[in-house]
Amino acid sequence: MKFVVQPGGQLTGEHRVPGDKSMSHRAVMLGSLAEGVTAVAGFLEGEDALRTIAAFRQMGVAIEGPEAGSLTITGVGLHGLKAPDQALDLGNAGTGMRLFAGILAGQTFDSELVGDASLMQRPMGRVINPLSKMGARIDALSEGRPPLVISGGQSLQGIHYDLPIASAQVKSCVLLAGLYARGRTSITEPAPTRDHTERMLSGFGYDVDNTNGVIGLDGGGRLQGTSIDIPADVSSAAFLLVGASIAPGSDVLLKHVGMNPTRVGILNILTLMGADITVRNPREIGGEPVADLQVRHAPLHGIDIPEDEVPLAIDEFPALFIAAACATGTTILRGASELRVKESDRIAAMAEGLTTLGIKNEPTPDGIVIEGGKISGGSVRTFHDHRIAMAFAIAGLRASAPIEVLDCDHVATSFPGFAELISSAGLKLDARS
Ligand code: S3P
Repeated sequence: MKFVVQPGGQLTGEHRVPGDKSMSHRAVMLGSLAEGVTAVAGFLEGEDALRTIAAFRQMGVAIEGPEAGSLTITGVGLHGLKAPDQALDLGNAGTGMRLFAGILAGQTFDSELVGDASLMQRPMGRVINPLSKMGARIDALSEGRPPLVISGGQSLQGIHYDLPIASAQVKSCVLLAGLYARGRTSITEPAPTRDHTERMLSGFGYDVDNTNGVIGLDGGGRLQGTSIDIPADVSSAAFLLVGASIAPGSDVLLKHVGMNPTRVGILNILTLMGADITVRNPREIGGEPVADLQVRHAPLHGIDIPEDEVPLAIDEFPALFIAAACATGTTILRGASELRVKESDRIAAMAEGLTTLGIKNEPTPDGIVIEGGKISGGSVRTFHDHRIAMAFAIAGLRASAPIEVLDCDHVATSFPGFAELISSAGLKLDARS
């Protein structure tokens, strides 16, 4: 499937983008491992999170739905999973694979984790290392590439782990393994990363503390089933935030967006660039801050992106690079080498497409320098990466000729219904197979 986007247009109206991907994975994981029933609303019915449901069903968990974003999970308790009869296929989901590794390291049975072509190339040494220190046995291909073959029946010991990279996936993996470990498991991180695991564990009645940046829990407790209302994914809202900012005449209201402080780098960075974003009706739902966001067109200017915002906006850089392409002056990103190991090498993928569209840029090992300019038309590759596809789609709002965005099937991993929603907002997008 490819997108063909006609140039121009503006984004208007009220929209609710699908549920948060990080929280959707975690809701299914903790709901499955809890005792009693967990009711989930606002679940992201995207392929990544559906793979997580399928994997727990393979291990004997009864999950009803999803039906219009609702799920009912009958948890089996921390020790109630059954051995899967075949490898668990997590599709495109790095979050799925890394968090499952933590959970499965503590089981009595053997398991194997596989994924699609992109996931099978992604680095898993970052979770194998701390899990091995805890006593887990995990075999992988060279450089820690999947498949991950996890030997059950190991007795895990709590450790303190000083995370070498700012990664919520690694933090979450270690904490989830810590549920099964003897004693205390704790971590420190080089910079704050998304804290949905900690918040959700607390919501399931599990004590997690954060004292002076040391995040820890004691093994051997229990999770109690609960109700979870998942807000709209700020990472999906990002495409409308940027689209409305760059397209003259735009004025959109994005409803019920997750505003967790560890996720709002996109808002901070766009605001520094001159965007006009108003936070309306801020509220707290189920332990997570939520708000409606009104965004209107505004002239943007290039900035030197503060490095401490990088982990807080790590998934939003493809969209932000389009904002930079439409800004006056130069935008500089540093300290973002993690972008090279996402669903694609996002620095290389965006640099190639921006060049095709006539935007001068200079990739660096850990970032990029982008000169704002005039976006031409052209045909861009996505490397089968959902966020690269959506970023180049919204570039059409400021293009001088049609943009063809190739290989857009993976958009459904995080934003099912993107083509319909963004078309109803005003982008002239045609999805063709
Ligand atoms: C995620 C953490 C981030 C992010 C990913 C989702 C999570 O990855 O890029 O899309 O749900 O924990 P890292 O923690 O590896 O940076």
